[in-house]
Amino acid sequence: MENERGSWGSNIGFLLAAIGSAVGLGNIWGFPYKMGKSGGFTFLIVYLLLAAFVGFTIMMGELALGRKTGTGPIGAYHAVSKRFKWIGWLAVFSPFIIMSFYSVLGGYCIEYMSLNLSNLAFQNPVISGGDLFHSMLTNPIGSVFFTVLFLIICYLINRGGISGGIEKFNNVGMPALFVMLVIIIIKSLSMPGSIEGLKFMFVPGYAVAGGFIEAAPNIRTVLATAGGQMFFSLSLAMGAMITYGSYLSKKENLVRNSAIIVISDTIIAILAGIAVIPAAVAYGIQQGIPVGDIALGGPSLLFVTLQNVFNNMGSVGALFGTIFYMLVLIAAITSGISLIEVISTFFLDRAAQKGRKASRSKVVLLVCLAILVEATLVAVDGLGSNGVPVPFKETTAVVINGVTQYAGWNDCWLDFMDMLSEGLAMPLGAMLMSIMIGWEIQPKSMLDEIHSGSGNRMDGFFSACMKIVAPLGMALILSGQISDFFGKDARIASYIIGIVVYVVGVAAAVTSPMRKTSHK
Ligand code: PHE
Repeated sequence: MENERGSWGSNIGFLLAAIGSAVGLGNIWGFPYKMGKSGGFTFLIVYLLLAAFVGFTIMMGELALGRKTGTGPIGAYHAVSKRFKWIGWLAVFSPFIIMSFYSVLGGYCIEYMSLNLSNLAFQNPVISGGDLFHSMLTNPIGSVFFTVLFLIICYLINRGGISGGIEKFNNVGMPALFVMLVIIIIKSLSMPGSIEGLKFMFVPGYAVAGGFIEAAPNIRTVLATAGGQMFFSLSLAMGAMITYGSYLSKKENLVRNSAIIVISDTIIAILAGIAVIPAAVAYGIQQGIPVGDIALGGPSLLFVTLQNVFNNMGSVGALFGTIFYMLVLIAAITSGISLIEVISTFFLDRAAQKGRKASRSKVVLLVCLAILVEATLVAVDGLGSNGVPVPFKETTAVVINGVTQYAGWNDCWLDFMDMLSEGLAMPLGAMLMSIMIGWEIQPKSMLDEIHSGSGNRMDGFFSACMKIVAPLGMALILSGQISDFFGKDARIASYIIGIVVYVVGVAAAVTSPMRKTSHK
């Protein structure tokens, strides 16, 4: 142990944990579907460019910020900035909000895994994915119960600390996840008709030509979708990488580590796509379902379409179902524990700062209990199945041809929480962070940290990305998210908001008194 806070036992342990944080539900149900819908190969290229220029630099920036200050996001921003001190709060708020639905979804995975396991052991009657999911969503007590189970698992891991809990779990969980993924890929690709699914994912324009979607999205939407997805998938702007970086030794190479995390997460997202989409499409074609009607993304992909795929496989289905839901569960756990760690680290550091020694077990327990309170709301809501009122729902209602429609971001509590965190807090936080590094404290202050342990010199690249590419990219993503959430009418307003935040941010940064002191 390097200090009282604890630290990673090895660089590979850190890497597995960081990749574990990055690989989550976003990879499995977000990436493949968004890629197919938004132009296949075109989306992939946009995604890769954004990951290389924005994701990779912000990843380096976050790890450096954490390691340099040796604290979680709140302490880290306080230590380096005058004007952007408060972003740290955003970076603790978002993980807390994300956990409200992540733990419910993790609970559903436990439910599905257990069901498939019981199908494997006993000859249970086959229940369709749709019926199963419906009965689950409309059973609030069951959903809360499994949410609690998920949180107990996370609690037990986080309680063990950085190397004794998080690293240990990832060391076993991540390789296991990879093996299970390969098994599912082989099975998926062996299904007749699976090639259609591959074409949907990879062939430009095939989503429209093959009848999966009616019209291709425009480039603005593609950019915003790819950017939002990239941030969420890489666990950026959530304090997670700052927190994990704060436990990393000075001798490790941040440039190489960041590259490994970004590349691994992207490869696993593509592999996850190859595991689920071909199987789902093959099943749909076999059943004579029009491809446009097969759910290929979001909760329905995981909990309706794929359960049907497993049901349809005959006796081996339960085995593949068990493996698959266990895989998704591990992905959810390794992301969940990183989110819980952001919040726990905050309280632990704060206590240490005041000269007190807080008990990790107690802190983690309280954090998990607080998460349980908000998660209960999401669990009871059951994706809007149980009539729980959602904020602002009625105010966004519009009647089109006699049918009442609502803006998509508040269809249910899960969507609402997602809008707050992934939609707003995350792009805003990332944009202000890059402006802070680029224009207030100057890239040099972070480069000094990055140079420690790294022979790679990417100074020019890092500065240009932090000053120009990342903030502008983020402004675009923020605008895209806002206009996505609030509909077409909000498009112009959302671009104005993006530009205003950018201009105000840069102005605050360049007039900061810190600027002088950080010039060397
Ligand atoms: N990266 C995770 C996913 O793809 C989600 C996540 C975001 C986890 C932020 C931690 C921090 O599902």
